[in-house]
Amino acid sequence: MRKKIVAGNWKMNKTLQEGLALAKELNTILANETPNCDVVIGTPFIHLASVVSAVDTHKIGVAAQNCADKEAGAYTGEVSAAMVKSTGAGYVILGHSERRTYYGETAETLKTKVELALKNNLIPIFCIGEVLAERESNVHFEVVKSQIIDSLFGLSAADFSKIILAYEPVWAIGTGKTATAAQAQEMHAFIRKTLASKYGKEIADNCSILYGGSCNPGNAKELFSNPDVDGGLIGGASLKAADFKAIIDAF
Ligand code: 13P
Repeated sequence: MRKKIVAGNWKMNKTLQEGLALAKELNTILANETPNCDVVIGTPFIHLASVVSAVDTHKIGVAAQNCADKEAGAYTGEVSAAMVKSTGAGYVILGHSERRTYYGETAETLKTKVELALKNNLIPIFCIGEVLAERESNVHFEVVKSQIIDSLFGLSAADFSKIILAYEPVWAIGTGKTATAAQAQEMHAFIRKTLASKYGKEIADNCSILYGGSCNPGNAKELFSNPDVDGGLIGGASLKAADFKAIIDAF
């Protein structure tokens, strides 16, 4: 059966000291608990190694929010998948809409990043989602399908099986405007059907598909109660340990 996962994406928030304090607080809160889902926190690159040392990584997985589309070499300012892996992180968030929009990441670049992540034994959390204009003109299913096909459908079935997907409608990110539970379920079911058409029902059924976009302690339970919603990718609400824990407890 596919895993339930609650993953935090801290984005460009928290100094190293603040991030470490948050990671330790979460670690303490979860120390005597067995959550009903996997828990992951996605931190800035420079926090990774310290956060990995500060938490019980059997209980809290650690993710980078990006990695380079090159293996190594003269690419000033970039961080490779191998470097991320060497910190002890186990995951990498790829294809977030903020990376696509502000840093011009294309389907082709993301395809390479996914391949490098997998080559370095990192689990990609691959983000997909439409902008508001696309939903309003009723092309949201096609947009999401293309994002999946263009970056992921070159993978072997064995490699695809390692991927976690996160459906994040761009109009719901940081806006306080969450997709309704019905909208999330409708898209997640469509995504799973798309996966099944390429990789078969078993692989599609085993793929965890997370919802992201203004998910909070007040709406997590309703969103997660949908059969095809396997958890959340949480931005703002992952920056406070109590809120993030409340979302974990939605399972
Ligand atoms: P918010 O939860 O702040 O809307 O962000 C969602 C997100 O982009 C997670 O990757």
